[in-house]
Amino acid sequence: MILVSGGAGFIGSNFVVDWLAHGNESVINLDKLTYAGNLQNLHSLNGDSRHIFVHGDIGDTTQVAALLKQYRPRAVLHFAAESHVDRSILGPAAFVETNVNGTFNLLEAVRCYWSALPDAERLAFRFLHVSTDEVYGTLGPDDAPFAETTPYAPNSPYSATKAASDHLVRAYHHTYGLPTLTTNCSNNYGPCHFPEKLIPLVIANARAGKALPIYGDGQQVRDWLYVGDHCAAIRRVLEQGAIGETYNVGGWNEMTNLSVVHELCDILDRLDPRQDGASYRIQIVYVADRPGHDRRYAIDARKIERELGWKPVETFESGIAKTVQWYLDHQDWVQNIQSGAYLSWVQQNYAQRAITEPTL
Ligand code: NAD
Ligand code: TYD
Repeated sequence: MILVSGGAGFIGSNFVVDWLAHGNESVINLDKLTYAGNLQNLHSLNGDSRHIFVHGDIGDTTQVAALLKQYRPRAVLHFAAESHVDRSILGPAAFVETNVNGTFNLLEAVRCYWSALPDAERLAFRFLHVSTDEVYGTLGPDDAPFAETTPYAPNSPYSATKAASDHLVRAYHHTYGLPTLTTNCSNNYGPCHFPEKLIPLVIANARAGKALPIYGDGQQVRDWLYVGDHCAAIRRVLEQGAIGETYNVGGWNEMTNLSVVHELCDILDRLDPRQDGASYRIQIVYVADRPGHDRRYAIDARKIERELGWKPVETFESGIAKTVQWYLDHQDWVQNIQSGAYLSWVQQNYAQRAITEPTL
């Protein structure tokens, strides 16, 4: 079996469901159930004995050691993290705690377990670390996309703590020989995406008649990848990746934030039009920019394609259409999340963002 950390979050839960749809190997799913963890994401696995959910913290080495001893996984896939840039700006301590200290404690527990395994199991073992393209910093409009050799230059507390975790993973391979793999992926979207991030926030706000907040001029560029494609890439890296290597994962799909929001409005105009017949675009509001906002991310995903034969299956058009439909079909999921804690986050993040004029 495998052990997944953070498997109740957006990407982790998609991965666990996807993993069990592609084979019969059981998953131990260790998740702290922070605000971002949601067991509803895993409801399709209710009654499936191949999924073992454990409520716990990657930073709790005693608990992690006991789990490793009990289940003897052949691999640990590390998704657990604090993952939202805006939250990292307003409260960086939790990011240091989970992304840096948590990863360190997890690595220590895994190293202790792995080093005591019999030869064959030790050789076959893998630690796969799921990371982000944000560790590379920001690009100018004409810069080449991030390659695996691009120097790290993280700009937010989120990306700095992810970069630190990547370095720890690298060091555990280099120093102790731990068989690690690291993936650095671009922005994901798809089902179960927590509505603090741009795409699900815009879908939820549009339907609720609320403002669609664009930070700054909306001309920041992100590369977007459908979450199912990311899950397939992780499976491929786990099975075929070379030990100690890192793989950049991306969708070859750079878009400005404004064009993403326009696309979402256009899809919603077709699938779920406003009662007054106007376009959802009228709800767009320009607000104060994110401090230190990275201007452009772009991923050179040629290494994983060349060496492991992975490339994305979804186009942005196909993936975003499925995503919007998922949110329309799962309004209960969105409503359950929009509890008191979510509302106080929205208040904290947006109340102080003065509405601005676009500077196009
Ligand atoms: P998420 O915030 O939706 O989920 C994180 C999960 O980790 C939650 O279930 C949470 O409860 C759990 N968790 C947090 N702290 C924990 C702890 N101390 N112990 C155990 N569980 C804990 O995040 P996501 O978007 O699913 O991202 C998953 C991983 O992928 C992260 O490492 C993130 O950096 C990386 N990543 C995300 C994206 C993206 O676009 N979302 C892109 C590239 C990489
Ligand atoms: P986000 O989904 O938070 O992902 P990340 O910061 O990891 O890229 O944001 C995606 C982009 O959308 C980013 O450039 C910030 C911008 N954004 C807005 O313009 N308005 C919003 O309300 C949010 C949440 C994000």
